[in-house]
Amino acid sequence: MRRATIGIIGGSGLYRMEGMTDVEEVRVATPFGDPSDVITIGNFSGVPMAFLPRHGRGHSINPTEIPARANIWALKSLGVEWVIAVSAVGSLREEIAPRDLVIPDQIFDRTKSRVNGFFEGGLVVHCTFADPFCPELSNLLLDSARELGDVNVHAGGTYVCMEGPLFSTRAESNVYRKLGMDIIGMTALPEAKLAREAELCYATIACATDYDCWHESEESVTVQMVVNNLSANVANAQRILQSVAQKIPANRSHQTCGCADALATSIMTDRLQ
Ligand code: ADE
Repeated sequence: MRRATIGIIGGSGLYRMEGMTDVEEVRVATPFGDPSDVITIGNFSGVPMAFLPRHGRGHSINPTEIPARANIWALKSLGVEWVIAVSAVGSLREEIAPRDLVIPDQIFDRTKSRVNGFFEGGLVVHCTFADPFCPELSNLLLDSARELGDVNVHAGGTYVCMEGPLFSTRAESNVYRKLGMDIIGMTALPEAKLAREAELCYATIACATDYDCWHESEESVTVQMVVNNLSANVANAQRILQSVAQKIPANRSHQTCGCADALATSIMTDRLQ
């Protein structure tokens, strides 16, 4: 099977990658069932890349139902080492306007009904997750985003991941703001946790589409609002991807982020006997 080093997980509005050449669609079977869709492998800016739309190409998979374990397993099995996730988010801050991009550095987990890890049935693993996004990959994304020159990009920020599928109540939205959250979405988890357990470098381009429902002079978020702002956002995300693909090292031997060795110090089973 063809291999790729960079994996892109497309979110709402990003169901196909523009500019990929020499493409092949592959179905990858995993111990956790089928991934969200076929994976497109091809050449992107001269680099072998794998693309997977997390909601499926027709957007038929809701956030709770995303087969995240199959998705991460499938990318890993294709040789992917770097995963860039593109996600639509609501803004919880005045200064993050719809159509801005955020490269978050923290996550707060408010999901309820998702399987969060690969290891079970006798193997106990506790990975360090203090910094849930790979700082080195995030920095490369930031460099590429800033180079565009015409996009408002925010460095860092806390992504609160809610269960959904309904959007938040106003009370929840205001509490998240008081707690210091910056953006809200439904898909960064368990993806980021699974990527860490799979020893992948993982970072997110978060595309702000709305002010959620806390903002007094803006209408509460609707799907129409999200969709209206997404196409501009996704076009910019694709421009970032084109440039970052050239900056990502061919292998991770010089990386200091530790993502590639995340399991080395994390396995409890049999350690204490
Ligand atoms: N995705 C886009 N906007 C969102 C919002 N306001 N809340 C949760 N997920 C979102």
